[in-house]
Amino acid sequence: MEFDFTALEAESRYRLLTNFVGPRPIALVTTRSTTGRSNAAPMSFFNVFSHEPPIVVLGIQPRLSGEEKDTVVNIRRTGEFAVNMVDMALSQQMLVCGLAFDSDVDELEIAKLPTARCSQIDVDHVTSSPCTFECRVERLIEYPRRVLVLGEVVHMHVRRDCLDADGRYVDAHAYQPIARLHADNYITSDRQFVLKAPAIADVLKASENME
Ligand SMILES: Cc1cc2nc3c(=O)[nH]c(=O)nc-3n(C[C@H](O)[C@H](O)[C@H](O)COP(=O)(O)O)c2cc1C
Repeated sequence: MEFDFTALEAESRYRLLTNFVGPRPIALVTTRSTTGRSNAAPMSFFNVFSHEPPIVVLGIQPRLSGEEKDTVVNIRRTGEFAVNMVDMALSQQMLVCGLAFDSDVDELEIAKLPTARCSQIDVDHVTSSPCTFECRVERLIEYPRRVLVLGEVVHMHVRRDCLDADGRYVDAHAYQPIARLHADNYITSDRQFVLKAPAIADVLKASENME
């Protein structure tokens, strides 16, 4: 089947993009509200796009009412947010944080997530998360139905068991983030395999032999 995205209505574009671009990692984004309360919301329009500078991007759409989500309101006001990565152990609490609570509700409290103050920004992070990236807004890109938040990572917390003994590489057995596939379908990274790229010379030789 073919789909002309220039003619397709928004709901179908959303369905096709989210059904086929996956798995998408989940950021449990924590921010601080005007009243000083913590706010937490999962975002799967999320990934890392650069290491120099270190940039992560969130894509946040308004609520059905047209109002901005608390995460965007808080990020606009403070210019700060933390991305807490989500593993299986955090999955239920992540879903609780995704419910449409009133703005003054602290989702971290409701989900009973343990927290600590971030090191370089005035936001709480989830201490049971395998790792957290503290971010300052680098820029916002505004579309009528979505705000892209580019955040520069200024600090990272990693749970000790998620790193090897030298503290350099990830321990792939300990760190198994979950990711969103489509609708309510998720995947975990417990089946990992090694894939080595072939040498260019071998590939060119094989392609010459086929001619
Ligand atoms: C796994 C998952 C991923 C989500 N990803 C996004 C996303 O990328 N962008 C978005 O706007 N909403 C996303 N949502 C919905 C928000 O988390 C939800 O609207 C939340 O209530 C927003 O909270 P806030 O108003 O405190 O910011 C996601 C929900 C779940 C459960």
